[in-house]
Amino acid sequence: MTKRITFLGIETSCDETAAAVIRENDKGTADVLSNVVSSQISEHKKFGGVVPELAARAHLENIEYIIKVALDESKVSLNEIDGIAATAGPGLIVCLTVGLNIGKSIAAFSNKPFIAVNHLEGHALSPGIENNIQFPYLLLLISGGHSQFLIVKDVNQYEQLGTTIDDALGEAFDKTAKMLDLGYPGGPSVEKASKLGNKNFFKLPEPIINKAGCNLSFAGLKTAVLRESKKLNGDNKLKFNLAASFQNTINKILYKKTKIAIEMFKEKINSSNINLVVAGGVAANISIRENLKKLSEEIGFKTVYPSLKFCGDNAAMIAWAGIQRFKKNLLNKIDVEAKSRWPLDENAPYMKGPGLKI
Ligand SMILES: Nc1ncnc2c1ncn2[C@@H]1O[C@H](COP(=O)(O)OP(=O)(O)OP(=O)(O)O)[C@@H](O)[C@H]1O
Ligand SMILES: [Mg+2]
Repeated sequence: MTKRITFLGIETSCDETAAAVIRENDKGTADVLSNVVSSQISEHKKFGGVVPELAARAHLENIEYIIKVALDESKVSLNEIDGIAATAGPGLIVCLTVGLNIGKSIAAFSNKPFIAVNHLEGHALSPGIENNIQFPYLLLLISGGHSQFLIVKDVNQYEQLGTTIDDALGEAFDKTAKMLDLGYPGGPSVEKASKLGNKNFFKLPEPIINKAGCNLSFAGLKTAVLRESKKLNGDNKLKFNLAASFQNTINKILYKKTKIAIEMFKEKINSSNINLVVAGGVAANISIRENLKKLSEEIGFKTVYPSLKFCGDNAAMIAWAGIQRFKKNLLNKIDVEAKSRWPLDENAPYMKGPGLKI
């Protein structure tokens, strides 16, 4: 029997302190032996967002314990682990450093291989934990800090087709929740409020909908929500209508832009077997899943989503990315440093800031 690779993963890029033990299995997917996530939601709630110094301190306080729990739950000893993977970017440097340093220390004293994982690669490969998907596939990555269409050609090989030119989709959900006083974290609360409202009540802008290929823009939509939110006068019905109209507008934008991205993907990849993987925290949104399912049935492609527990930040996806990189011998030295910015496609144009022409 061939040896099945087992990895410890560590994630501290933002406000989740997480550790997991993953072992590859005979189906080409993974057995998740443990997946421990400690969220700092209650600490950041009163500020309506993540406060970097608080987040870093909470990671420092929790990380050792979370790793210990992950190892205990997995019933795997450190001796049996083949390597350690920790998120090295992109994200808040003060936060990344906590998980990265402890990962490097464990690797050094136990004399095991170390992999510095790009958090976005963690999201990109996350559906592979439970699904045996062949490369290449089209990825829609929608998270708190990113919104991109990419061709995932292989592990470590990405081509960006489009990206947001301003806010990330998760950020738009979080800001909308804040403007409507729906609570933190924003995405799930907007989704919940939308169920109580009329999605066609407000006509909101769909920025760059008819131009710029599959690039995305949400800033104008956010401003429109702000404008309308000032006229609500405490009317809850109107508030739910605004949440529902915001989510419906997002769905219209994603429908149109995904259709364009599928065409671009088809042109570049000569295959009739098309898989769209939707990953990142916002991929947990059920209305977005249903919307893209409708598109997939209309134009004929398959959609693959990670389970809800692997959409938001978690260390299982970091351990899984670690295993994939280990198998390709993409190891890191122990002096590897954290990076705040780390695009998956290093050649993609930077699409933000003044003077941008689209
Ligand atoms: N049901 C939902 N509907 C919409 N958005 C959601 C839902 N659940 C979570 N989100 C959003 O997902 C985001 C968190 O996702 P994730 O943890 O992947 O982001 P991040 O790690 O902070 O950013 P990145 O991965 O880009 O570095 C938040 O903005 C949150 O509001
Ligand atoms: Mg994330």
